[in-house]
Amino acid sequence: MQTRTLGYLGPGVSAIGLGCMGMSDLYGPADRAESLATIHAALDAGVTLLDTGDYYGMGHNELLIREALAGRPRDQVMISVKFGSLRDPSGAWLGSDGRPAAVKTYLAYTLRRLGTDYVDVYRPGRVDPTVPIEDTVGAIVEMIQAGHVRHVGLSEAGADTLRRAHGVHPVADLQIEYSLLSRGVEARILPVCRELGIGITAYGVLGRGLLGGHWTKERAAAKGDIRGFHPRYAGENLDRNLALVEALRAAAAGVGLTPAQAAIAWVLSRDELIVPLVGARRRDRLAEALGALDAQLGPDALAAIDAAVPAGEVAGERYPARLLADLDSERDSSSGGTGL
Ligand SMILES: NC(=O)c1ccc[n+]([C@@H]2O[C@H](COP(=O)([O-])OP(=O)(O)OC[C@H]3O[C@@H](n4cnc5c(N)ncnc54)[C@H](OP(=O)(O)O)[C@@H]3O)[C@@H](O)[C@H]2O)c1
Repeated sequence: MQTRTLGYLGPGVSAIGLGCMGMSDLYGPADRAESLATIHAALDAGVTLLDTGDYYGMGHNELLIREALAGRPRDQVMISVKFGSLRDPSGAWLGSDGRPAAVKTYLAYTLRRLGTDYVDVYRPGRVDPTVPIEDTVGAIVEMIQAGHVRHVGLSEAGADTLRRAHGVHPVADLQIEYSLLSRGVEARILPVCRELGIGITAYGVLGRGLLGGHWTKERAAAKGDIRGFHPRYAGENLDRNLALVEALRAAAAGVGLTPAQAAIAWVLSRDELIVPLVGARRRDRLAEALGALDAQLGPDALAAIDAAVPAGEVAGERYPARLLADLDSERDSSSGGTGL
């Protein structure tokens, strides 16, 4: 397994991480046995980074990871946990809570659910606009000092917030959407990460499935699948975006890759600071995704992939309007305004 470091200082992780969200939430029904088998297959292939959030299935995802890791040495896997997103029993999103007391409380529950005494990277899933980021990060630092957390992370934070947080304590990685379809990070956020030595764990590398090449116009989103409400999966936007996927399929085939592999390889090629998270929830999809690591793409091949899905050509925003408004990364013109 190829490795990268999270930021200039590490820790070292596999060059691709496994995002476990869809095994518990948001993408419709998941097969529990297949989810566990997928996590095991990832670990056996050398993947060392598992990403979760305490609000993915309201603890379900953490309990699933606990079960998957049973009997395996704790120090051979890095667990990245997001906290702070508020949800009601129906799953509706109610904002964020980044108060220090909330941070410590979330962590206490997470440690119990995961059956471990430390989390490797701990991060607010969203920046709480009512709490100074210094206070939220300060609480994580206290938890580092107490031995319950190893590294500070952030998620969907803008460039200014990154600087403020990094001033309190080095940030290991920023988790943020980055793909051929969503390139907003390139304008201000990626340069700040390079300057400060902050790693990026990129999510949505497959555009939540669109770039995987298995989504079709006829595929209706199942109950509980947020893609049914997603602007990029709706009506004419979907037609236009599927046309981009076909162009990607052709460019990928030219270098012996699937669209998913080309999309992952493209993100890997953008900077050594970037570790793509793939949201595979089946072993076959995982094997396909890890195949991206074998791609030997020269500048011409990368340019062809880039040209197949040109910056700014995607139709639709990367989140529904109400959820987009929650993103600190979109608030301070960090995004540059195109290709989101
Ligand atoms: N920080 C944040 O705000 C945030 C937000 C979202 C996600 N995340 C994290 O990032 C992880 C990845 O995000 P994501 O799941 O939205 O992104 P993704 O990897 O872009 O999309 C995953 C979906 O792509 C489809 N797919 C098609 N071919 C695939 C292949 N070869 N390998 C993997 N998936 C393939 C699968 O859909 P089907 O299974 O339906 O075929 C899968 O559910 C999440 O699990 C989560 O841990 C973080």
